[in-house]
Amino acid sequence: MTDLIEELKAPTADAGTGEVHIGAAVSRIDGRAKVTGEALYAAEHVADDLCHGVVVNSTIPKGRIVRIDDAAALAVPGVIRVITHANRPKTRAFGVFYKDMTAPGGTPFKPLRDDQILYSGQPIALVLAETFEAARYAASLVEVEYEREPHDTNLMTNLDRGHEPSRMKAGYSPPPDEKGDAAAAFDAAPVKIDAEYYSGVEHHNPMELFASTVIRGKDGHLTIYDKTQSSQNSRWYVSHVFGLSKSKVTVRNPYVGGAFGSGLRPQYQLPLAVMGALALERSVRVVLTRQQMFTFGHRPETWQRVKLAAERDGSLRSISHEAVAETSRIEDYTEVVVNWSGQLYTCDNIKLGYKVVDLDQFTPLDMRAPGAAHGVHALEVAMDELSYELQMDPLALRLKNYAERNPMDDLPYSTKALRACYEQGAERFGWSRRPLAPRSMREGNELVGWGMATGTWDAMQMFARASAVLHADGRLVVSSAATDIGTGTYTAMSIIAATAMGLPLEKVTFQLGDSTLPVAPIEGGSSHVATVGSAVEGVCEKLQKRLFKLAKSLRDSGFDKARFADVRFAGGRMSLAGTPSTSIPLEDLLAVAGKDRLEEKYLMLPSVLNQKKYVRAVHSAVFCEVRVDETFGTVRVTRVVSAIAAGRIISGKTARSQITGGIVWGVSQALHEETHSDHRFGRFMNHDFAEYHVAVNADIHDIDVIFVEEDDRVVSRLGAKGVGEIGIVGTAAAVCNAIYHATGKRVRSTPITPDKVMLP
Ligand code: MOS
Repeated sequence: MTDLIEELKAPTADAGTGEVHIGAAVSRIDGRAKVTGEALYAAEHVADDLCHGVVVNSTIPKGRIVRIDDAAALAVPGVIRVITHANRPKTRAFGVFYKDMTAPGGTPFKPLRDDQILYSGQPIALVLAETFEAARYAASLVEVEYEREPHDTNLMTNLDRGHEPSRMKAGYSPPPDEKGDAAAAFDAAPVKIDAEYYSGVEHHNPMELFASTVIRGKDGHLTIYDKTQSSQNSRWYVSHVFGLSKSKVTVRNPYVGGAFGSGLRPQYQLPLAVMGALALERSVRVVLTRQQMFTFGHRPETWQRVKLAAERDGSLRSISHEAVAETSRIEDYTEVVVNWSGQLYTCDNIKLGYKVVDLDQFTPLDMRAPGAAHGVHALEVAMDELSYELQMDPLALRLKNYAERNPMDDLPYSTKALRACYEQGAERFGWSRRPLAPRSMREGNELVGWGMATGTWDAMQMFARASAVLHADGRLVVSSAATDIGTGTYTAMSIIAATAMGLPLEKVTFQLGDSTLPVAPIEGGSSHVATVGSAVEGVCEKLQKRLFKLAKSLRDSGFDKARFADVRFAGGRMSLAGTPSTSIPLEDLLAVAGKDRLEEKYLMLPSVLNQKKYVRAVHSAVFCEVRVDETFGTVRVTRVVSAIAAGRIISGKTARSQITGGIVWGVSQALHEETHSDHRFGRFMNHDFAEYHVAVNADIHDIDVIFVEEDDRVVSRLGAKGVGEIGIVGTAAAVCNAIYHATGKRVRSTPITPDKVMLP
């Protein structure tokens, strides 16, 4: 409750001056709008001519549609039309038009394109009605006759079909070539482990359901409120698929109720809603149900094998890590699963391999720390296993092999405060009091265990534009087509702009979530602060220079002989350092110059040539305590300390929320989340919240986040690297390792359910 009250308060700033600074613990700027319901999500926008679409999904995984009988559906009062592949509005034929900005290699799925069924749950019809209820009831009456073909959805019986991804996406990093001779070094080393790991399918399940509301203007212009991690990605997709000019479509996503990667690609409700709007020449809303949230991308099922070998003193001699993951028949979804194992520990012999198997499933999709969440998990559980073989403290083993330069290519790190993460995390947790042997701590019926793991994720920067307008009343409006999926983009960008211009936070507005705003990338990869944040700081600097020029041009301003380097922006004024009397409020400056607004635009391009000289990554050290009920095998994660090195922290409070949320996800990955298939039907069975478990409040206890000091000017001019995904990486491994420490039972698949803990 106190947290809620905190959020409801107006954005906090330093007492007195009202000014903020980089790192300030400002409450989420959009918090009040969200908790009062003022913030409208994609499914909450209305129009006078709005009608409702409900999707019908395939019940078979492979084959073709022979016949769709919509007579009963059309007879329901209020039903307007049933759209299928046979009567849909015109869409482009070629796959290239369906390529969104984050599409993997291959040919994307084309909704309602033809009679082919590619996976169970595939959308095959849209029922449009005056009310949602009528549409939903009518959708249940649509009869479909299929012609079935044999299907295969089982990764584990198809591992031998694993092949290197051939349908490549630009920007995908395949594992680097082998360093040294991993097999020979493994054979020769005195201490070794060789283990297989498995992680099942997971679904994103953001709180907000996928939805698109297409509002059709009288002139045919489509304003689409879409749940997406990039308004411009959805706008581009709709334009291409339907052959509509850019000026005819605007996509907005000012508020997004979580996405975690599921909104990186346009989901099928978007083209279906547009089809409805084009066919009926009306406004249309399509909302998916929670069950339908299990009918598109997911974290891929993955099998892994890790072999580690060391000298008796713990020095690593050989690392090999291979992974085989599922993809669809039409695209090669790829993620970086194994490369991290060539990046974390110093070793002369490293071999990495990654393969995919195409199955009759929808293409997998990036989900929070894609690849790393499970790849680093396997490595970090293997390191724990090795530590017991060596009878060495797991943290000491990691410190023994600490990499000062990137092991694979000997590049330096742009910054790497991982050692400080280990030290500060261990200190806060009390790691030095940990007994080495498993099963050595007990309280009543509960076995207590302490485990730890390392986490890492990329520190990425893309390119972005921003614009800034300073108004005569001193208000600053900064804009970029960025997204806030709940991560704190509004807040972080406002802090950056307010700090740069020396304005109180209340005077600054950051606009995002509209495809007509200056170009911004997808909100993904924890890169928005380094990317959009740098554009915001850049445009503010341009504005400062404009203001300075203006002041210089004014008679008797006191700035006529000044240099820009001597000018300070603080307290809503521009002042000359060392000459406090030379100072002018920004609004006065505009007034004297006779301007009612000053506008600047800026394009932020990363310094790629310089960046390429370094490995750029964020790091973490996660420590956790579990209590395992010996009779029932139930696990509680009672304490987590995560020490994070992610460059300069821009928005203290929302950054902490990101890490806390990531840790909750890690606990959920470790103990709860898995979507099971019934391979006879090629269909996910537990596609609802009753049977797909996510961590709830009762599962979460003490979480303590430490931000270790780091300042990385290679990754961004702000010194920031970015937080978000790093919170999950390593957390599940720390939980798994703590369970071993508590029980002596090693569980090599996630989630670690009570049956796996209990059974021999
Ligand atoms: Mo995240 S999986 O980059 O949205």
